[in-house]
Amino acid sequence: MEIIRVKNAEEGGKKAFEIIKDGMANGAKVLGLATGSTPITLYKEMTSSDIDFSDMTSVNLDEYVGLGGSDEQSYRHFMNVQLFDKKPFKATYVPNGKAEDLVAACKEYDKTIDENPIDIQILGIGQNGHIGFNEPGAPLDGTTSVVDLTESTINANKRFFDKVEDVPTKAVSMGIGSILKGKKIVLMAYGENKADAIKGMVDGPVTTEMPASALQNHDNVVVIIDEEAASKL
Ligand code: GLP
Repeated sequence: MEIIRVKNAEEGGKKAFEIIKDGMANGAKVLGLATGSTPITLYKEMTSSDIDFSDMTSVNLDEYVGLGGSDEQSYRHFMNVQLFDKKPFKATYVPNGKAEDLVAACKEYDKTIDENPIDIQILGIGQNGHIGFNEPGAPLDGTTSVVDLTESTINANKRFFDKVEDVPTKAVSMGIGSILKGKKIVLMAYGENKADAIKGMVDGPVTTEMPASALQNHDNVVVIIDEEAASKL
């Protein structure tokens, strides 16, 4: 793993955008995208740039079960507001959290990933080391599936909802195996509450208890972190 230390999230967003621009200059056509607060500075860089993304495809990591694009807390809505409404892409894929048959929707999403091989996968990380919504215990070679969210993730994400009871308890998430198919992976993390997860990801054993540790098995990973997130390395 290549580790890039930055002063803050703003500098991190700029670094990540440089990697995307380099990738695009070298033929990258598909971006794997993430939600959460972490990638917001990257999306700001993208939307304020003069780069055209209308030939690019995006494939997002995950979506809450039960929320559709018109729900303000859905990840589809987040992506539209943060990026796609300002910078149109050729095609944008986010799992459908309202599909009647979620298992079929997961299979369909795996087909989408296979048809649009991800050149650069953007990732954040959960405080418990989750990537996408792959919580501790998730198989390291998994594909897209319906997952149960842990209490700690529900608590960490409740800030986006009126009350904790409104936070969905399930999500559709690309699996760790699908994430590892990305040709290049860029993981960003800022703040002290990510320090344990970063330590486990970089220095710990590769174990399902620390989903992000699976990235040690990938040969093209860049980790962009601030001093607080790096403080336990
Ligand atoms: C959610 C998302 C993850 C994200 C994580 C961290 O659980 N499913 O993709 O990495 O939150 O979020 P934040 O960047 O807000 O700390």
